[in-house]
Amino acid sequence: MQKVKFFYGDEVPLEMHKVRVVQKLNLRPVDQRLAAVDEAGNNTFLLKNRDVFLDMLTDSGVNAMSDRQLSSMMVADDSYAGSETFTRLENKVKEIFCKKYFLPAHQGRACENILSQVYVNEGDCIPMNYHFTTTKSHIVINGGRVEELIAEESLEANSHIPFKGNMDTDWLKRLIGELGLEKIPFVRMEAGTNLIGGQPFALANLREVHKICKENGILLVLDASLLADNLYFIKVREEAYKDATIREITKEISDLCDIIYFSARKLGHARGGGICTSNEDVYLKLREMVPLYEGFLTYGGMSVREMEAIAVGLEETMDFEMINQGPEFIAYMVDELQKKNVPVITPAGGLGCHVNAMEFVSHIPQEQYPAGSLASAIYIASGVRGMERGTLSEERNPDGSERLSNMELVRLALPRRVFTLSQVKYAVDRLGWLYENRHLVEGLVFTEEPKILRFFLGKLKPVSDWQQRLVAQFKKDFGEDM
Ligand code: F0G
Repeated sequence: MQKVKFFYGDEVPLEMHKVRVVQKLNLRPVDQRLAAVDEAGNNTFLLKNRDVFLDMLTDSGVNAMSDRQLSSMMVADDSYAGSETFTRLENKVKEIFCKKYFLPAHQGRACENILSQVYVNEGDCIPMNYHFTTTKSHIVINGGRVEELIAEESLEANSHIPFKGNMDTDWLKRLIGELGLEKIPFVRMEAGTNLIGGQPFALANLREVHKICKENGILLVLDASLLADNLYFIKVREEAYKDATIREITKEISDLCDIIYFSARKLGHARGGGICTSNEDVYLKLREMVPLYEGFLTYGGMSVREMEAIAVGLEETMDFEMINQGPEFIAYMVDELQKKNVPVITPAGGLGCHVNAMEFVSHIPQEQYPAGSLASAIYIASGVRGMERGTLSEERNPDGSERLSNMELVRLALPRRVFTLSQVKYAVDRLGWLYENRHLVEGLVFTEEPKILRFFLGKLKPVSDWQQRLVAQFKKDFGEDM
């Protein structure tokens, strides 16, 4: 795409789409926001959407769909077995990833369940660039463990490293040497590494990982849920690929991986998922699990309408002008926040803007969940719903102690093509205000703590009356205005 230059020198991302369907939003007054977050147990997952102004919880299943996706849903072929719709999706996945076989699943974690059930045994170790919450839980439930082979610098909040999602390949070689091949059923690479701030890996790095896996006969699995962002970053940050098309880059990535799975709630802008491979043995093993957990092989838990939309969405993902919108809006948001000294993860990644709670509220001990506290404070200050990605999202150690997270982030996801620039500016403004008043924000303690994936359903309360004091300050500064 030609870069669009503004005559007056503005540097703003320009949308290459127009909005044709809209949804009305509610911005509640600050007292109501306080009441809503209290009712939700300070867990933004438990807020009701009617109380949320800008929903930046996630991009999962909420990216805007195109006119072509919507219209494709009307021509879906509804049948349990052998639907034309499934064939269209299967062919599109096989075409884009250049693989022989495709297995449908209802979402990303369903693919992780299938892979873990088939390949993870007691005492196994799965090396990966970094874990994702659901991935790790499935591996652990099957008796395995996760080893994150990420360079130390990648966990630094601010750096100029363009590919923080790279795997440390020397570490991988050492680990294989130490553990032996029997204990490592596969190596997993995650595109657009979610939990460290939507950070990409380089294709050169993936090639090295592939080489090591191949030499040792270990399967290489790609989690392609956030592939669209990673494709964008390879094109704009990796010199060797600046002239390659997105389709060519996708093929090169795919050729290096034995198994690719994805959440189509992210990749493909609809709701579903799937696994593809060219390895017949792998395919046959994984296939057995699909009717058991997902449904018959020609729908895998997905509605035909969603399958049609995914097929079109995957094709549209091959368009640079489609996949650039997310990362470019995120870069804008990150730059604007930095101008207001708000600590954010840099370089800007995909998925969303990641606020560094460890620095923002450095006075809150990790045991009192700085990122969870900040997510609650952001909602009170703005009606913006973000997601905690820190210690709260971890599970406790077997002895009950907290497993302190490497990073304490509040993720403000930017679902693709959903928010306008003025909405992003509003969020930046309120975050700036909150940063000026950060001393008012204090910690949280659990009142209800589930054992597994506690961040989804857990409830917490503030350690003091800090939220009332935050609201009082808000009223002082904004008066009768919202
Ligand atoms: N892998 C990655 C990298 C993900 O980001 C997700 C989901 C999954 C797997 C699981 O996919 O939700 O379809 O079951 N991430 C969502 C998020 C939940 O908000 O980041 P799923």
